Amino acid sequence: MKTKIIVTGGCGYIGSHTAIELIENDFDVVILDDLSNSTEKTISRIHKITGVTPTFVQVDLKDPVATFKVFETHKDAAGVIHFAAHKAVGESVQKPLMYYKNNFYSLLNTLEAQSVHGINNFIFSSSATVYGTPNTLPITENNETQRPFSPYGNTKKIAEEILDDFTKSNKSFSAISLRYFNPIGAHESGAIGELPNGIPNNLMPYITQTAAGVREKLMVYGNDYPTKDGTPIRDYIHVVDLAKAHVIAIKRLLNNKQETPLEFFNLGTGLGYSVLDVIKSFESVTNSKLNYEITERRDGDVPQLYASTDLAKEKLGWSADRKLNDMISSSWNWEQNLRSETK
Ligand code: UFG
Repeated sequence: MKTKIIVTGGCGYIGSHTAIELIENDFDVVILDDLSNSTEKTISRIHKITGVTPTFVQVDLKDPVATFKVFETHKDAAGVIHFAAHKAVGESVQKPLMYYKNNFYSLLNTLEAQSVHGINNFIFSSSATVYGTPNTLPITENNETQRPFSPYGNTKKIAEEILDDFTKSNKSFSAISLRYFNPIGAHESGAIGELPNGIPNNLMPYITQTAAGVREKLMVYGNDYPTKDGTPIRDYIHVVDLAKAHVIAIKRLLNNKQETPLEFFNLGTGLGYSVLDVIKSFESVTNSKLNYEITERRDGDVPQLYASTDLAKEKLGWSADRKLNDMISSSWNWEQNLRSETK
């Protein structure tokens, strides 16, 4: 019998890549997704890549009755990897209540429904945004968390606090919070990748859409930051490396290897690249010129964020293998496949 893992938000960008890695590690995967920012096509794409069709249930985890029902059906699961959440920083500033409602109701219903059935292992999809504007770099897990700029970011920070309280009150329950830096890239097959809804907020999909002619021009938000070329520095990480870390994290809980009931790990490469570095690499990988213009700073952007990767290396035995060029070429490959599909 394969070990069953429930992946909420499994039709989304990071969730779908993680579902593939879980299947390739011989887990039985059940995907729960409301398809609010994803497509059911992802299920057949996962089949195309792995030869396995994961179980899929379309469910809104904000709805407690529906959530309890689906966990009753899958009460033999051993753990949950929780990706389901809204994630657009700018939209969360416009619609904070929608973000708090969606991200917390779904988290609380999931925790309640799974623990009723003794499904006591939980991996949480967190973000480097919990560090706010860090005073020291690289950021270690010991850096203090700060109130993030956006409601979206705040849902990640408060969720970690909820998990802290819950793991203290429920001694059988263990959780790992994975704090992502900047996930980009796509599966090497070119069959899955990021599917931004409408105009992308993030740098890489904006670049690939501009190069594909979907957007006219990339706006670079500010070149007067205290960095080498004035543009902000981020720690970009390949989504496949990120997905692999989730498999290692869930195995750690299944094998009772966690050292505390709630653990935190940064997931990054430890390398910082500026916006102009990314643009230059894109131009060199694709042998093309990108149309871009420097404009005003965007609210809430911090000058520099990059991870210390020591803890993940030491405790999970995980580090990122893929380089910036791999991230860029796989993103571009995916974008081109998407365009040829929509033609
Ligand atoms: N950028 C541009 N033009 C764009 C988009 C982005 O210049 O059109 C710049 C941003 O100003 C920033 C860098 O590219 O300097 C990266 O921006 P992203 O939006 O791709 O990523 P962020 O670092 O802002 O956001 C990421 C995650 C969020 C998370 C945040 C903080 O996407 O989920 O890190 O940790 F909240």
